[in-house]
Amino acid sequence: MALLSLSLARHAAGGLQPLRRLCAAGWLREADIDLCLRSLHPALRLNRVFARVEARRWVADDMLALQLRCNGNARDWRAGQHVQVYLEQDGVRHGRSYSLTSVAADGRIELAIKRQPGGRLSNLLLDHLEVGKVIELGQAFGEFVWPQEQDAVLLLAAGSGITPLFGLLRDALARGFSAPVTLLHQVRRHGQQAFAEDLQALAARYTNFQVRWAFSAEAGGRLTADHIAALPAEHLLVCGPRGFVDTACGWWRDAGRGTSLQSESFSPLPVLTEAQTPEVLLSFARSRQQALGNGNASLLEQAEANGLRPAHGCRQGICASCTCLLLAGTVRDLRSGELFAEPNQPIRPCVSAPHGDVEVDL
Ligand code: FES
Repeated sequence: MALLSLSLARHAAGGLQPLRRLCAAGWLREADIDLCLRSLHPALRLNRVFARVEARRWVADDMLALQLRCNGNARDWRAGQHVQVYLEQDGVRHGRSYSLTSVAADGRIELAIKRQPGGRLSNLLLDHLEVGKVIELGQAFGEFVWPQEQDAVLLLAAGSGITPLFGLLRDALARGFSAPVTLLHQVRRHGQQAFAEDLQALAARYTNFQVRWAFSAEAGGRLTADHIAALPAEHLLVCGPRGFVDTACGWWRDAGRGTSLQSESFSPLPVLTEAQTPEVLLSFARSRQQALGNGNASLLEQAEANGLRPAHGCRQGICASCTCLLLAGTVRDLRSGELFAEPNQPIRPCVSAPHGDVEVDL
């Protein structure tokens, strides 16, 4: 049973600075302090973010909005960013990133979680995470920002790409953004229009905002270059699977619509064939370990396959939490194909594959 309420625990977190300094200086162990703190409240920790589930709300057939209240360690989070959610099952810790659709000053946040067929964590969260449970989150990351200028904005989303855009949009309208905003959301079928009721309520309240849906499973239902051409807008924010995002950015540029373009994609990284991936020697310097690997999978995956547990967040090359030094050899950026060979340069192992033998500081 918790000895403190979560509000008091949040308050207490602000007074833990001396303990943080002692841990940073090596005088105390953070794990020991956390053990004491969690006996006061299951969400109280020195530095790590824990949050209690306050409510669950289905916002589409396959998407749940989870309302949580964080301990005092969630710093400077913004709607539209992403956080890693961790959950343990049968002694195995799983983690995955989800978008923040709202962030309040009192530590209340909302995350949107889409069901992934066969996805272990999303199905656990959707089907078994009850109100009142406490879960661990990573720190928020993500670069999407609402344009500063009061010019027309076009938001293009496909699938769960709606979630960061919805968070940004709701905040911007609430802050008084008054230039025209159009949101086009492409989903496969009816029932998948996440936050449809919230969006319709926003459209009814703010006359500068309009929303439309496209259904890609229907003949002629996909968004096309003509949709963009028909809408006057100075800024484009686009989010969705990689193919969709790349295509939409191409339409924007081909239409000569300027450089105010922000994009994020969530798709899996491209995987090469066996023929393209000869065996390579992986040296993990900090762990003093060597292993045979390939040029196909990311260094993060190959480190994990060899029993290492490197820090990571998004696994998409966005959050930088996996960054480590390339000590020797060459790596290939799995997103762009670009090669990096300069020793001692920081790389992101979640999106870097070995290009020959390689040594990294993991
Ligand atoms: S885990 Fe986020 S950049 Fe690598």
